[in-house]
Amino acid sequence: MKTPVAILGATGAVGQHFLSLLADHPEFEIVGLFASRPRAHIPATSWVASLPPPPDLEGRPVETLSVGAVLASGAKAVFSALPASVAGPLERELADAGVAVFTNASAHRMDADVPILIPEVNAPHLDVCPPGRAPLVANSNCSASGLAVVLAALRPLGIRAVHVATYQSVSGAGYPGVPAIDIMGNVLPHIGKEDDKIVAETKKMLGSVQGARIVDHSMEVAAVACRVHTAFGHLEAAFIEVEQLGDTASAVALLREFRGHEAAWGLRSSPARPIHVFDDPARPQPKRDVLLGGGMVVSVGTVRRAGNTINLRLLVNNVVRGAAGGSVQNAELARARGRI
Ligand SMILES: NC(=O)c1ccc[n+]([C@@H]2O[C@H](COP(=O)([O-])OP(=O)(O)OC[C@H]3O[C@@H](n4cnc5c(N)ncnc54)[C@H](OP(=O)(O)O)[C@@H]3O)[C@@H](O)[C@H]2O)c1
Repeated sequence: MKTPVAILGATGAVGQHFLSLLADHPEFEIVGLFASRPRAHIPATSWVASLPPPPDLEGRPVETLSVGAVLASGAKAVFSALPASVAGPLERELADAGVAVFTNASAHRMDADVPILIPEVNAPHLDVCPPGRAPLVANSNCSASGLAVVLAALRPLGIRAVHVATYQSVSGAGYPGVPAIDIMGNVLPHIGKEDDKIVAETKKMLGSVQGARIVDHSMEVAAVACRVHTAFGHLEAAFIEVEQLGDTASAVALLREFRGHEAAWGLRSSPARPIHVFDDPARPQPKRDVLLGGGMVVSVGTVRRAGNTINLRLLVNNVVRGAAGGSVQNAELARARGRI
């Protein structure tokens, strides 16, 4: 039987990707779309997602969001694409009322009973959700999600430190997002609290469950986030210091062979290989590679290893792997584990 679900913030950049990904999902059925005000439906002219709209877009009305309206919809789980300021109290209320919450907002990411989940990276983190209660599960910041997948693949080498610079697309700021006059022909060298979020969330995601809590990974993380004039996909340049000496080929082999935690295998949204490594030094590129594996594959290029340091470029689809697709995959894991 399908789980009835609602999308919160359905009209935005991430919300629209949820709508597309859930349209024909065998495990979930959309029973409600919510946003700040009602609409007869999302107009086709407002469709900004990198994935196609569902064929019945015009048959799906959008309601004004409230806890009562979500409960009345019959949803047993929600996919939240709300601004953090709105998500904060509302997501807790829903979880307390027995509705599982899969959120992209930052409001609860650092809460002790909320995992920042990526099934391939840290499936056991789901266990910090208190048993017998509806789970509240977060996604990371979109840049951190791609970085975490790559770090998980290199984990056998013993990660000491990672320094990362991100080149983030405009869709990362939502819809309508950054004013065109600010970003056209420009690079914005700073994005809100993004640098700090990448640091804290990466350490939490790569951390381990001890008792009923997550203990951060001890590696040093430093991040610089910039906004660039691309539509979808965040490119990142990472310098990763590891304990083991070795050559480039062995690092590439780890990335290519990575399958992630076995709990992720077989989930509908899990790609067979979460990482694709390009040999062509001109790849990955946001324009060409952002939809690899339906947007769930993290692509990597120009890997070089000298002594203890590996440097590489990576590309993550911020709205699929880094947002809606990641949340759907988390819900698939929670369902497989009997948490919804
Ligand atoms: N974009 C990304 O790449 C990305 C990646 C990871 C995480 N995130 C996070 O995901 C969340 C959504 O991001 P987004 O890029 O999709 O933002 P967005 O395009 O600005 O969409 C925000 C959505 O929230 C709704 N909303 C705003 N205020 C509301 C209120 N008071 N009550 C009910 N609904 C309200 C909006 O509805 P209206 O149309 O009615 O205003 C819209 O549907 C954010 O927390 C963001 O930080 C985004």
